[in-house]
Amino acid sequence: MTIAVITIDGPSASGKGTVAARVARLLGFAYLDSGALYRLTALHAKRGGVGWDDEASVAALARALPAEFRDDAVFLAGECVEAEIRSEEIGMGASAIAALPAVRAALLERQRAYRQAPGLVTDGRDMGSVVFPDATLKVFLTAGADVRADRRYKQLISKGDSANLPRILQDIHERDARDAARTVAPLRQEPDARLLDTSDMTVDAAVESVLAWYREALASG
Ligand code: DC
Repeated sequence: MTIAVITIDGPSASGKGTVAARVARLLGFAYLDSGALYRLTALHAKRGGVGWDDEASVAALARALPAEFRDDAVFLAGECVEAEIRSEEIGMGASAIAALPAVRAALLERQRAYRQAPGLVTDGRDMGSVVFPDATLKVFLTAGADVRADRRYKQLISKGDSANLPRILQDIHERDARDAARTVAPLRQEPDARLLDTSDMTVDAAVESVLAWYREALASG
């Protein structure tokens, strides 16, 4: 029997990570935040003085990435870098290196290795289209750009960080455009992915929709 996978792809700051982590917890599945791998690679390169446009060197770093997920946080070579990788600067770096085919190839097998019994929930951009094309359920989770900017703004403020709403909105537009325009694994809804627009939805309602679709997929598969 193949091991169940639920993929939740979508644009930045859509809340897909929150929904994916909660679905994983409710089902007792593992959770993979694939964007964190791109963010870690960007941080690793920055710290090593490697330019984000140096495809071969960044891919080499990605292949041997000393990444670890534990206690709801992300570690690079044993150091907790959770706050650092969530910065807007590293987000832009992740978006830049994610456009490099050799970097995507370097991270592919590592992502597939997270598929372990009893199941996996994963979020990203190409989890349903490229990494797990045979997923049990594929979701494309989105929300309007201004809703996403507002959510990111409130998240930053609640952490005590400073935040500028127009600037965040501009960053979201820029990153959307870059993630959608790249030639490798561009962000888009695949024909076999179910659309979940959370603009007017609570997190609980979004989680319920994914769980209901998963039960449907199991019943029909
Ligand atoms: O989901 P996120 O904002 O943490 O992702 C950071 C960047 O990584 C984003 O700009 C797109 C890229 N990414 C990707 O290309 N493919 C994935 N599966 C996950 C993230």
